[in-house]
Amino acid sequence: MSSSEAIGVFDSGLGGLSAVKEFLHILPNEKIIYFGDTGRVPYGNRSNSTISKYAFQDTRFLLEHNVKLVVAACGTVSSVAGEALRAKLDIPYTGVVNPTAFAAAEKTRNKKIGVIGTAATIGSHSYKNRLQKLNPEFEVFELACPLFVPLVENGFIGQDDQITRLVVKRYLSELKEQSIDTLILGCTHYPLLSGAIQDYMGSGVALVDSGYETALYSAKILKENNLLNDNKATQNPEFFVSDTPDDFQNIAGLFLGRDMEHTVTQIDIESY
Ligand code: DGL
Repeated sequence: MSSSEAIGVFDSGLGGLSAVKEFLHILPNEKIIYFGDTGRVPYGNRSNSTISKYAFQDTRFLLEHNVKLVVAACGTVSSVAGEALRAKLDIPYTGVVNPTAFAAAEKTRNKKIGVIGTAATIGSHSYKNRLQKLNPEFEVFELACPLFVPLVENGFIGQDDQITRLVVKRYLSELKEQSIDTLILGCTHYPLLSGAIQDYMGSGVALVDSGYETALYSAKILKENNLLNDNKATQNPEFFVSDTPDDFQNIAGLFLGRDMEHTVTQIDIESY
């Protein structure tokens, strides 16, 4: 059995593109339907009940496109509403926490792992709990970096951007003192800042990209469920947002290295 249906991916905004980038690379013949909730970003400072409400609306939108897999490419949603989503869906679902924690557990040598994410993600201790289930000897250092998401949403993603470098230093200096050898970018927006983060942390620290790891894991789920598309033709992704497409189009185009003009459609997410 195979399936030509799409993979549905969502995030509060641009962050899930860190997963889409990898999907386009490893599964070019799969159709991607992406929803970025740009009208309501950020999610990471909101209450758990609001985050859950948004997550279910986003998922209902994707289901309307008849998707075969739902990917919450969002650390915040995965941490706060992931289990509720999984329980409600009758198609395969993945969030970012499990695949990313696995990858970090494989990477670390000194068992000291840093986790950065939104306030909601860090407050939930989702990565820490998962990591310490995998190995109780792991020392996990958690840190919320709330300014990273607006930096990304406003296009401050250049490796040499002076504002971004300053904010990275301000947040990460305390983590740098903990001699971690692995740093989980636990919010999918953060890989868009990975140049500046890697420069600051130094080459001795391996960055684990939650978007990338989740795309790899999604490919595994599709394979195990015989849901990969047999049609070898390259598919063009479709993007939907809940605010005007312009900024999203420009920054996404820059990050994905493709012309996004006329590929982004605005929808009314409140009606879902
Ligand atoms: N990209 C998201 C995450 O992975 C959401 C960030 C936000 O909206 O605050 O947590």
